[in-house]
Amino acid sequence: MIRVAIDGPAGVGKSSTSRALASYFSFAYLDTGAMYRACAWWCLQQGIDLDAEQVDEQTITQTVGDFFTEDHFDLSVDPEDPKVFADGVDISEEIRSSEVSSHVSVVSSIIPVRHVLIAAQRAFIEREALAESYSKGAGVVAEGRDITTVVSPDAEVRVLLTAREEVRQARRTGQSVQGVGAENVAARDKADAQVTSFLTAAEGVSTLDNSDLTFEQTLDALIALVEQAIEEQ
Ligand code: DC
Repeated sequence: MIRVAIDGPAGVGKSSTSRALASYFSFAYLDTGAMYRACAWWCLQQGIDLDAEQVDEQTITQTVGDFFTEDHFDLSVDPEDPKVFADGVDISEEIRSSEVSSHVSVVSSIIPVRHVLIAAQRAFIEREALAESYSKGAGVVAEGRDITTVVSPDAEVRVLLTAREEVRQARRTGQSVQGVGAENVAARDKADAQVTSFLTAAEGVSTLDNSDLTFEQTLDALIALVEQAIEEQ
């Protein structure tokens, strides 16, 4: 069983490289940012005001808790077709809207919300790491902000993916997803870094700065780390 944990800031290419890495090894793929986005989308759908100066943290926590415990939330961890569902409806596109991008940090910075998500993510990782369904050897690639440090600190492979800020901003601006190009990655990172530490690598975590690497070079470097971990098993 191989668990691969990848953290890093916005615009570093985490999702695309993590997904390609999972495909390469036929591992499951868990995008934890998509889970936080789904929670923000759900809260907005429920009419919760995420623009208030003092948001109602208790109501948000309760709403997110119900989202998971009442089984409204579901996701596909197939790297060829990762999807997020709410009440059986595919919301994978909706969660990438600029409205969700600009509100997600409000939800993800509430500590009790994080506890709900961390528990759900650990359960997914342990289940998928043992599952045979995608396996050459069973494994899972999970990416986010606190996977190497909090969600799966004992993962077999732990990587912090970084890139210079101007490179990340340019990559985000170049993305074709509606509205996302307009966002300011530095502002979101600043908000996110208040609650998770993803700007420097924790002990035992490999740093991969891909500012001057192509997508393929980044992927090759990640593949090499996973192959090394497989050999060491
Ligand atoms: O990776 P992303 O940009 O889709 O993540 C969306 C938001 O979710 C991001 O602003 C920070 C938050 N997030 C988090 O706090 N912890 C994670 N493990 C993943 C994402």
